[in-house]
Amino acid sequence: MKYKILLLNPDIKKIDLECRELTSRGIAVVTARNVVEASRLLREDGLIHVILTEWEIPVDNENTVSIKGAELFEKFRVLRHEVTIFLYTDQANLPYFRTGGSLSGYFYKGEHDYDDIVRKIRSEVINSKNRAPFFEKLLEYSRKSKDSWHTPGHASGYSVKNSIWVRDFYEFFGANLFRSDISVSVPMLDSLLHPTGVIKEAQELAARAFSARHTFFCTNGTSTANKILLQTLLAPGDAILLDRNCHKSVHYGTIIAGAEPIYLTPSINNAYGIFGPVPKQTIIAAMDKALAAGKRVKVLILTNCTYDGLIYDIADVVKEAHKRKIKVIVDEAWYGYATFHPHFFPCAMEAGADYSTQSTHKTMSAFSQASMIHVNDPDFESLEELFMEIFNMHTSTSPQYPMIASLDIARKQMVMEGYGLLSRCIELSETLKNSINSLNKFRVLELEDLISDDVRNDNIKLDPTKLTIDVSRTGFSSREVEHLLLDKHNIQIEKTTFNTVTVLITIGATHSKLNRLYLALENIEQMSGNQRPSKLNNSDDIFLALSPIKFVPRFAFYSEGETIQLSDALNRVSVHMITPYPPGIPLLVPGQIISKEMIEALNHYRDFQVEIHGLKQGRLKVLTAADEARLELDGYRLHDINE
Ligand SMILES: Cc1ncc(COP(=O)(O)O)c(C=O)c1O
Repeated sequence: MKYKILLLNPDIKKIDLECRELTSRGIAVVTARNVVEASRLLREDGLIHVILTEWEIPVDNENTVSIKGAELFEKFRVLRHEVTIFLYTDQANLPYFRTGGSLSGYFYKGEHDYDDIVRKIRSEVINSKNRAPFFEKLLEYSRKSKDSWHTPGHASGYSVKNSIWVRDFYEFFGANLFRSDISVSVPMLDSLLHPTGVIKEAQELAARAFSARHTFFCTNGTSTANKILLQTLLAPGDAILLDRNCHKSVHYGTIIAGAEPIYLTPSINNAYGIFGPVPKQTIIAAMDKALAAGKRVKVLILTNCTYDGLIYDIADVVKEAHKRKIKVIVDEAWYGYATFHPHFFPCAMEAGADYSTQSTHKTMSAFSQASMIHVNDPDFESLEELFMEIFNMHTSTSPQYPMIASLDIARKQMVMEGYGLLSRCIELSETLKNSINSLNKFRVLELEDLISDDVRNDNIKLDPTKLTIDVSRTGFSSREVEHLLLDKHNIQIEKTTFNTVTVLITIGATHSKLNRLYLALENIEQMSGNQRPSKLNNSDDIFLALSPIKFVPRFAFYSEGETIQLSDALNRVSVHMITPYPPGIPLLVPGQIISKEMIEALNHYRDFQVEIHGLKQGRLKVLTAADEARLELDGYRLHDINE
């Protein structure tokens, strides 16, 4: 076993003895005699999974000041959430002080029962953290090699493995994928739609790992996770405050729920074409204005971190929403790992948010589409039945088992080695940043470059695992840089704006990949020579703007409309969502006025050959004059709050 215990005791003789006893029982031990030493070890050694500590420990070598109880345990918690803390003390009775609720167990030194300690520690690490109950059951079942008389039709691969036409499909994916792709009629593998066995157990372990009260696995991505939550929390006519720039699934969820959206305009950085967080004052003012107008405001939903890695002071925002009795959903599609490293603390659950949705597949080791919904809402018990009904409404009755297994494994990996992997990502990011900045024509943008003035006082942070690189000095457009990276250097980046490219340093990053990227950029810099600046990276040419939303999206969406050319659409109202992809943030939502800036922005995206959902051969659907008159008459015009 590769995990270690951190043993804390200020007494040098006793700690040596305790260390020997534990080591002789096969446990790897590192020791510390004060808080400073312990903190250093926790920061440096990702293999520490358990702390065995005295009630009171001196702060440093001087031995003059010490910390005890809840304060001591909290010191460790703010460094590493996933580490289990056991109290190991001379006091037979638990001290009459508060422990802060972060202790997982207690051992009395007077009993000298090292076997008990070792048994409990092993049980904690091996039987919960290091387990993947669903994956283990799936392995067990696949190894039994049962004859399949049920779906799927490939019957463990038999339909394809001897085919003269499609055997390559079987050979590429391999026998194990087919053996583990089995039907929901296998009871020992539990049911995602009504979990009572290994899926329930896996979800409970995930809840514990991600600091939630409940966790639910989603096999259709955070796109579906968002819709499930919005439909659960919003009844028709309820109001929701949403970042205008949130993912399209949030807009769809609002349409499905029949809720009235109140849009929050995000901060916009026109110099780099980046939408940032919504200013805190905008959020507070919008909540107050909506409540004063008598709206039934039920939910605030924000994206944290943003696609470009900008991180809200989320605890503060949650506090403001809760003061007003508004539930908070945080779309953490890009931030699922935040609970596993203090560099990113707090994640939404720790910040007190009610719900969070995470694309486990985007930033951790789960397969594509595998996401999680985390719940901390104290009122959830009264909603759980409805939630499960809606979960069932949106979830296939044949979820893919390898995908569920990948969620179980992604959680186990993050608990066991997430801290170490993330520390490495942060280091790699720093190295990559320095090497890119050593070039003349590329520059990694810092927080100050990325945020605009309206959020400068909002305590925004930057996630170092998302690097945005200014390419404007190369003379190439970002699209050209992207193509050069892909076609010439075999490197696929995450996204571009008109003058930046963004790369993600995920837990799968390696030194080799990092240096290959650096060499590719160096090569592009040399190629660029005296390249004249591309028209496409001139910030004057593109201006990120959001136009007003005239009608409630649900009712605009269900209007008949007519299809016209984008060039003829000035001041008309969109029926559908128009979404450049990736990342899937709509430029136009149903009911929104098509302004000159919107048309220009869409034309720019087309010049960039960006995939644009909702725009077909330059045509889009808009409301007719009759539609607009009817919507006006029916009272679906959005006035005051959204303008
Ligand atoms: C902020 C945000 N939320 C939700 C999603 C949807 O996630 P998924 O791809 O897991 O469906 C995305 C996808 O890019 C996103 O950027």
